[in-house]
Amino acid sequence: MAVIENAKLTVIGAGAVGTSLAYAALIRESAREVALYDIDTARVEAEVLDLAHGTPFTGSSSIRGGSDLGVVDGSNVVVITAGAKQKPGQTRLELAGVNVGIIRELMPRLVERAPNAVFVVVSNPCDVLAVAAHRFSGLPASRVFASGTVLDSSRLRWLLASRLGVAASSTHAMIIGEHGDSEFPLWSQARIGPVPLDHWDAGHGPLDREELDRIADEVKNAAYTVIAGKGATNYAIGLSGARIVEAILRDEGAVLPVSSVLDGYHGVSGVALSVPSVVDAGGVRRVIDVPFDDEEQQRFAASAATIERSLAELGI
Ligand code: LAC
Repeated sequence: MAVIENAKLTVIGAGAVGTSLAYAALIRESAREVALYDIDTARVEAEVLDLAHGTPFTGSSSIRGGSDLGVVDGSNVVVITAGAKQKPGQTRLELAGVNVGIIRELMPRLVERAPNAVFVVVSNPCDVLAVAAHRFSGLPASRVFASGTVLDSSRLRWLLASRLGVAASSTHAMIIGEHGDSEFPLWSQARIGPVPLDHWDAGHGPLDREELDRIADEVKNAAYTVIAGKGATNYAIGLSGARIVEAILRDEGAVLPVSSVLDGYHGVSGVALSVPSVVDAGGVRRVIDVPFDDEEQQRFAASAATIERSLAELGI
């Protein structure tokens, strides 16, 4: 497949995350047309108007939207941000009951409107909702997946780059597993430029395990920290979503830790978890079989069990 010309992105949900993702997509020109849908007519029309007023400064992208689902027609990518959001101290998994209901209702209608689109779930718990969206859409797992730990990996790269005094663009490290409390860094594969992290001299030798664990904890708890201070996270997830959209619409083949339903990946099947994946115009072209050390294998299995428990509780 090639770059999708005059591509259309539709964002479902005009809350803080959805509007931040639309805003990021306009500024980055992720798609030629950005559409925003929400059931709240007044809200979505005001958000579209506010975004449109800035488009003379955003190059070629345009914005439209409303509360009629016809807004979705002809989309190449549909990003779902609708649903309840975390309250201070609340886990993402605690949102599952409410948000699965929204996915169950929405997915068949969205697929009817945009049968050829790639669907990206951002709403939380995104791994659980990716399984639900896959189930309720009838689409192949490659075309309906979640943003997963793209955001967490960005947080990790920012923290490592800041700590080591290097560019984030040269900091190659990923968080994998659940986008949630059981996530973990793939330290064994982390590199600074071509140098394995455990060989990188941070000025007084490589980072020790205690420092690495502190950084990993700061990443895992980042959303709780931001939510405690401002009530929600939105800018970084908006940018992360726009990045995933670009990988699809530009047919990049970018390696991103998105969360798709796995089939025998390190012994895991039927569960969506973030692993290094090749993302292009067809969605998740393939997942990359990365070697895990013993600890990483144990943590991956624990993350899978966490999502499996949530799916079982929901009857999915
Ligand atoms: C966060 C939300 C998007 O991690 O789950 O900020």
